[in-house]
Amino acid sequence: MLFSSILFILASLLKRSIVQAIEWTPFEPVSLPLAVKSPYLNAWLPQGNGAQPISTSWPFHWPSTSHHMLGWQSMIIVDNAPFWLLGNGTFTGIKNNAVLNSVTYTPSTTSFNLTAGPVNVQLEWLSPIEVDDLTRLSIPFVYIRVTASSADGEPHDVRVSMELAANLISGDHSLAANASSIVNDDIIALKMQLQTPQPFIEINDFPEDAAAFIATKNGVGVSYEVSDDNNTGSSSTSATIQTALTNTVDSNYSSHGMNTPFDNYQIMVNVGNVSEVSSSAIFTIGVVRDPSTKYTDLTGEVLLRHPFFKANFSSDDDLISFVLNDFNRSLDSGLAFDSKVMAAANKISPNYADLLALTTRQSLSALEVTISQTVNGSWNTSDVKMFVKDMGDMGSGGVNAVSVLYSALPMYLSLAPNLLAHLLSPLLEAQQGALYTQPYAAQHLGVGFPNVTAQNAAHNFGIEESANMLILVLAHAQATKDLSLSSSYYDLLRSWTNYLVDNALTPGQQQTNPLDSIFAPNQTNLALKGVIGIAAMGSISTLLRQTQDANTYNVSDFSTASSYIQRWLSLSKSANGSYILTSYGDETSTGLLYNLFSDKILGLNLVPDSVRSTCSCCDQNRE
Ligand SMILES: *[C@@H]1O[C@H](CO)[C@@H](O)[C@H](O)[C@H]1NC(C)=O
Ligand SMILES: *[C@@H]1O[C@H](CO)[C@@H](O)[C@H](O)[C@H]1NC(C)=O
Ligand SMILES: *[C@@H]1O[C@H](CO)[C@@H](O)[C@H](O)[C@H]1NC(C)=O
Ligand SMILES: *[C@@H]1O[C@H](CO)[C@@H](O)[C@H](O)[C@H]1NC(C)=O
Ligand SMILES: *[C@@H]1O[C@H](CO)[C@@H](O)[C@H](O)[C@H]1NC(C)=O
Ligand SMILES: *[C@@H]1O[C@H](CO)[C@@H](O)[C@H](O)[C@H]1NC(C)=O
Ligand SMILES: *[C@@H]1O[C@H](CO)[C@@H](O)[C@H](O)[C@H]1NC(C)=O
Ligand SMILES: *[C@@H]1O[C@H](CO)[C@@H](O)[C@H](O)[C@H]1NC(C)=O
Ligand SMILES: *[C@@H]1O[C@H](CO)[C@@H](O)[C@H](O)[C@H]1NC(C)=O
Ligand SMILES: *[C@@H]1O[C@H](CO)[C@@H](O)[C@H](O)[C@H]1NC(C)=O
Ligand SMILES: *[C@@H]1O[C@H](CO)[C@@H](O)[C@H](O)[C@H]1NC(C)=O
Ligand SMILES: *[C@@H]1O[C@H](CO)[C@@H](O)[C@H](O)[C@H]1NC(C)=O
Repeated sequence: MLFSSILFILASLLKRSIVQAIEWTPFEPVSLPLAVKSPYLNAWLPQGNGAQPISTSWPFHWPSTSHHMLGWQSMIIVDNAPFWLLGNGTFTGIKNNAVLNSVTYTPSTTSFNLTAGPVNVQLEWLSPIEVDDLTRLSIPFVYIRVTASSADGEPHDVRVSMELAANLISGDHSLAANASSIVNDDIIALKMQLQTPQPFIEINDFPEDAAAFIATKNGVGVSYEVSDDNNTGSSSTSATIQTALTNTVDSNYSSHGMNTPFDNYQIMVNVGNVSEVSSSAIFTIGVVRDPSTKYTDLTGEVLLRHPFFKANFSSDDDLISFVLNDFNRSLDSGLAFDSKVMAAANKISPNYADLLALTTRQSLSALEVTISQTVNGSWNTSDVKMFVKDMGDMGSGGVNAVSVLYSALPMYLSLAPNLLAHLLSPLLEAQQGALYTQPYAAQHLGVGFPNVTAQNAAHNFGIEESANMLILVLAHAQATKDLSLSSSYYDLLRSWTNYLVDNALTPGQQQTNPLDSIFAPNQTNLALKGVIGIAAMGSISTLLRQTQDANTYNVSDFSTASSYIQRWLSLSKSANGSYILTSYGDETSTGLLYNLFSDKILGLNLVPDSVRSTCSCCDQNRE
């Protein structure tokens, strides 16, 4: 998914043409991440041809097709005059839009600089991506901070309203939502749910079993209202702008679908007079599902799994209080995370750093961190499993698609190699045991996220997936020094290695990553990956002191890996020896050996330097 996004963005870079005088740092992307934290809190602002600024646009749930529009709107009311910051609604038919000056984004934050009349506004969307803290990583909430300051030196009265329709909780807007509020000394939160939720069902990529929230810290000047489009103070048909909302929850929602009229869940913060010194309103939005995934093993046994944060918080109140009181820390942590990502990426290239600014949040937001519940109801935090929803349709639509994990390996290695264990263990566990009968590794854990279903299906990616798994397991062991995965699943890993020994050199009609769209037989790149997989097992064997296997698979004189790489070279080189073919014997093809990168990352030194120089472009293309 990381790669697919990068390719997608590169493609758009080539065709973009900027007309408006908006400043972009680092560049104008295809789509800007807004509320991007979990598979079902994944809101974006599409850019590109004809795109309007945020103050006249609705955000979209990923993947941003027409039925994914989200009815989110935000207004800043300056000296009683409303200006739109977000959304494309109107107020009594009038729409004053704040003017967008610039957009900046980092791995954790997207920030809009706007002008609303005499006031400067900074609108920031922060995703707390806490790769070192599974509790925080699993909390499906983002922050929105609206900061205002006077642009003309005069004091100005400022209120900020944030309003959500109920779209996040269903892809079918004819269904009825309900509403409740949590109001205490610390917080005000509005909750929306389907009146008839359907567990583990998706409609149009939306969950049908979620509760969504909008919340803020309680205090002087904070008000709320759950109403509908026919009644809301800030919305289309109401004649006057209110100084405060009614602090009531409409209970008439059950009489109509969520879009007839639209339900509105709205919070307003009266910031008071702003001067040159800025003042802020801080909101949080979240989408909570529990249980979060349904795991089915090969015997058909079902185990419901729950979000990791359940072990820390027993109620919505606790969770949301924690989130809101964690804002200052999250802000600092976001800055630290941004520096870490940028430093790692800049070692490769500044362009790569720019791409990571955009794709890191996206990649990590596809994760669901789960735990199980013991028979007596307590949470088992030793049983951590992470599931990746295939948001880009790049992993054949599968949960924990092995090709997606392989593509994201550089990101995990530089940010959080320990997470690989939680991603790989469900795949390994599903294939351990007699019920799994394929000689090679599976592609994924089923296609029905949030259903996670062990697979025992024949497929045409045996070399690709077996090698990917061996490479991923070794990369994790090397980076973390944790040998528990490799030792627990040693026999399974060895059986995949033996499959590679039998098949890697003559891939025949087997295919590599579907993204490559190369369908020729006997692909050199695939054969190379298979041999790298064998050598990876050699290193795993060495780490576990399995001397005999190490001698067989390792890169050393007379080993299988070494003799295979020599044979691979003679099969893959063009007749005149000057370049590497895409497929054996096809002199018209030149290979792009992106799999060389794993040889390098793992330090195997399998492929002779002479091949690297024959194909100098290879490394940059996939890292
Ligand atoms: C916003 O709404 C106006 C009509 O009210 C419409 O002309 C315009 O295309 C809309 N913009 C977007 C980005 O949807
Ligand atoms: C926002 O843009 C304005 C106008 O370009 C500029 O004066 C101001 O410093 C910017 N604010 C921030 C926080 O970047
Ligand atoms: C909303 O619906 C859900 C699901 O049926 C239910 O659990 C919850 O109690 C309802 N809330 C209100 C305020 O009616
Ligand atoms: C909302 O307003 C529209 C237009 O005025 C009206 O047709 C509709 O019946 C109203 N709906 C409700 C639930 O009040
Ligand atoms: C509730 O909704 C019904 C039909 O949608 C409408 O006729 C009625 O006026 C509404 N009641 C209130 C108090 O808004
Ligand atoms: C804001 O400042 C103006 C001008 O100084 C003053 O008249 C007004 O009362 C102040 N409003 C608040 C809410 O303090
Ligand atoms: C969650 O609970 C664990 C175990 O009690 C604790 O170590 C951790 O600090 C808690 N995390 C947060 C974010 O509160
Ligand atoms: C966050 O920091 C600001 C000052 O920067 C402070 O006013 C505010 O009270 C802090 N918020 C919390 C929840 O600690
Ligand atoms: C539930 O089981 C866990 C693990 O067996 C144990 O640690 C815990 O004390 C038990 N809790 C209760 C309330 O019995
Ligand atoms: C918790 O999970 C671990 C790892 O899966 C397992 O070994 C252990 O038995 C579980 N504990 C309980 C009390 O179910
Ligand atoms: C999950 O599985 C259930 C029952 O097998 C099925 O009805 C549902 O559509 C699946 N969900 C998704 C998102 O595929
Ligand atoms: C693949 O290569 C092997 C070894 O050169 C050859 O025997 C086989 O016929 C090739 N298969 C295809 C489908 O071209």
